[in-house]
Amino acid sequence: MGFDSEWWKKFFKGTWQQVQPLCRSPEQTQKEADFIESVLKIQPPAEILDVPCGEGRLTVELASRGYRMSGIDINEVFLEDAREKADKRGLDIAWHQGDMRKVPWEDKFDAAFCMWGSFGYFDGVGDLEFIKVVSCSLKNGGSFLLDIPVVETLFPKYQSKGWSTIGDVIVLEDRCFDHTTGRLEVDWTFIRQKEQETYHSSIRIYTYREVVNQLNQNGFEHFEAFGSLKEEPFEFGSLRLFLVARKSGG
Ligand SMILES: C[S@@+](CC[C@H](N)C(=O)[O-])C[C@H]1O[C@@H](n2cnc3c(N)ncnc32)[C@H](O)[C@@H]1O
Repeated sequence: MGFDSEWWKKFFKGTWQQVQPLCRSPEQTQKEADFIESVLKIQPPAEILDVPCGEGRLTVELASRGYRMSGIDINEVFLEDAREKADKRGLDIAWHQGDMRKVPWEDKFDAAFCMWGSFGYFDGVGDLEFIKVVSCSLKNGGSFLLDIPVVETLFPKYQSKGWSTIGDVIVLEDRCFDHTTGRLEVDWTFIRQKEQETYHSSIRIYTYREVVNQLNQNGFEHFEAFGSLKEEPFEFGSLRLFLVARKSGG
């Protein structure tokens, strides 16, 4: 297989667990929620799935706008945080702790979304399984939004090293694209005061065409692609791919 197929089990439980909730400001989350409502063309009280939902930043924001929300994540620490935030605001959200390749709901949602590059974590079979279960969880005619880096967004500006500061943690990224597997292998070093830890991530980087094919194979059609939260059209060199697909029927 050529990569650690369960890297995500260690990575998201490591220092990243403290860093993730600090990465997106409340203003950014609100902008993303506005974007989600607009491109998925949804209105309350639609039934929406957020997968993986992390600490529920978007799940809670959209529930507060009147949507009936469900969220899935593997990390129980994130879900505890999510539950606490929802309880404080008196919001009733269905949380499920588990692997994103096993969505426990079928034919339930008007729309689903997978935000912030949470795709490409598995091998080709696993990534397809994820798309398949999302498709099954949607009603016919339901929409799906996928926010991911793809070949067309990553390589025009590719840099093998990067760094950022998140809270009081300095984050160093050492990136290597393995052309034999099509995966971006990254060593992440987290430095806080005198402590330093390194974790590894491995993400399959698809082309736009490959992602559309995977969605097509699982009953999605009518694709719309955006390159930013401002709903600019997607093109080679965009910062990100926001791909909206509709499940056939309905
Ligand atoms: C970059 S975060 C994005 C979270 C959320 N989509 C957001 O925009 O805030 C990726 C999330 O994927 C979750 N995750 C990683 N592997 C998973 C798996 N196999 N099944 C379910 N969730 C997983 C992590 O726990 C983490 O919360």
